[in-house]
Amino acid sequence: MRGITLGEMAAAVSNSGGFGQIAASGLPADRLRREIERARSLTQRPFGVNIPIYRPNAEEALEVAIEMGVRTVTTSAGNLAKLIGRIKEAGLRVLHKVSTVEMGLRAQEAGVDGVIAMGYEAGGHLGRGGITTLCLVPQLVDALEVPVVAAGGIADGRGLLAALALGAEGVEVGTRLLATHECPVPESYKRGIVEAPCDGTVVIGDGRMPLRVLRTKAAERLLSGHADSPPEPPKEAGALSSDASVSEVEEMILPAGQISGLLREVLSIGDLISGMIRQAKEVLEGLHERLLDRQDPP
Ligand SMILES: Cc1cc2nc3c(=O)[nH]c(=O)nc-3n(C[C@H](O)[C@H](O)[C@H](O)COP(=O)(O)O)c2cc1C
Repeated sequence: MRGITLGEMAAAVSNSGGFGQIAASGLPADRLRREIERARSLTQRPFGVNIPIYRPNAEEALEVAIEMGVRTVTTSAGNLAKLIGRIKEAGLRVLHKVSTVEMGLRAQEAGVDGVIAMGYEAGGHLGRGGITTLCLVPQLVDALEVPVVAAGGIADGRGLLAALALGAEGVEVGTRLLATHECPVPESYKRGIVEAPCDGTVVIGDGRMPLRVLRTKAAERLLSGHADSPPEPPKEAGALSSDASVSEVEEMILPAGQISGLLREVLSIGDLISGMIRQAKEVLEGLHERLLDRQDPP
């Protein structure tokens, strides 16, 4: 998450049993190097670097990741052909973010090690097809041979278990991680998420680059056509002062997913990940009782 998941947060995710990612988007080469060093100083566990391909620094970020010995990158938003040759030559693993089966097939053909299937309920930049996670993941699982990671709308053990049931090998979590103690966004942004109603997000931007954000006053003005095109959103979120007030936040464009409506408290990353796994197991046991220990109807 641009300007948010840097070295410290990536390390916190990896130390809690997840796979942390440093967002390379918008980072000059030196800064990315420092963030990778920072993560290394805080965790012994593996972490990756996320590279949105359409960003001007994509090739440079990949070279830094290679030079610094990062083993896995995730790529998104752009033409994979631009980076895949160099990624493979350097022997890195790559997962590419896709939002349709066609994109998944193209990525597999290009030689990716896996895809991240991101549904339309997710926070941030979205695919154009408007396909939701529940529909996208099983279609990709059926169509592809490479592993599928599910993203979009997953924030607790129920979501994790549902994604696994659909055939995903794992999940990528965005919005839920924004509302964690370790996340460096201002408290008011986190509050905006944990206080969001069920329909508390909207999709803005032109059809080419849809972006799901909190339904702030600024977002509503954009939707009603009473404002110009949005500012660079994640940069804006990162640029919020740490004590930004709720009224300031209402004037911002703040990426967040539909699952905001489910979230009611800010958690630590450790509690979030261990809680997800615990709840997934509990729900699975309950399902076992409901589905398997019951006699089938004649
Ligand atoms: C604030 C924010 C910034 C994001 N920035 C990026 C990014 O730089 N690169 C990327 O591949 N995905 C980005 N995403 C998408 C997330 O990586 C993740 O796939 C998505 O948030 C999952 O859906 P969820 O928000 O419902 O959990 C961003 C999402 C949010 C909310």
